[in-house]
Amino acid sequence: MSTKPHWEHVYQTRATDAVGWYQPEARTSRALIQEIAPGTDAAMVDIGGGASVLVDELLAEGYRNLTVLDLSGAALEKARERIGERAAAVVWQEADVLEYAFQEAAFDVWHDRAVFHFLTDADQRAQYATQMQHALRPGGHVVIGTFALDGPEKCSGLPVQRHSPETLQDAFGPDFALVKSQREIHVTPGETEQLFNWCVFRKND
Ligand SMILES: C[S@@+](CC[C@H](N)C(=O)[O-])C[C@H]1O[C@@H](n2cnc3c(N)ncnc32)[C@H](O)[C@@H]1O
Repeated sequence: MSTKPHWEHVYQTRATDAVGWYQPEARTSRALIQEIAPGTDAAMVDIGGGASVLVDELLAEGYRNLTVLDLSGAALEKARERIGERAAAVVWQEADVLEYAFQEAAFDVWHDRAVFHFLTDADQRAQYATQMQHALRPGGHVVIGTFALDGPEKCSGLPVQRHSPETLQDAFGPDFALVKSQREIHVTPGETEQLFNWCVFRKND
């Protein structure tokens, strides 16, 4: 069953800076993206980007080929309103990452913070990997942050599948090579600490 009603309700009823995943600055994402895609013409998609400020920061860095995809139209509307005029330079896609008809090899970078971990079913994870494989160009990169194995068991009240670099590698398969991984402690607006596992994978040529 789709979780779209859940997410629409969250974004319609809660302030964007009050949700557990809120971060005033997308520091880890931005640093990892800049390491692997320093050229500002890189085509990037933020999967389940929601109302994240990552897109604001990437626009400010000069990146000009940005797509934000999310199940929730309310989330995308909040981000668009916040960004104002510059939002017109971004492609906003209200869609389910598992269903969306991505163009083949469209992106250099596939970014996901706290979305893949909602896929608690192995079939969904396989579908996600197929979508990613299709949408990334050969040599493109995945930048992904999930709750770590010792992170929380729920996110936004929904159960999650926690991950390590090894479990992500298993899910993505041999077409993706692990480039680096790191841990991050995210402090929620309610001052709870959440352990994230961040990985960068490169799609083989
Ligand atoms: C925990 S929030 C993280 C939002 C954002 N990535 C951030 O770091 O601020 C999860 C986001 O994933 C979106 N989402 C959940 N399942 C999705 C799916 N199957 N396809 C697209 N977006 C999805 C939700 O609407 C929500 O915006």
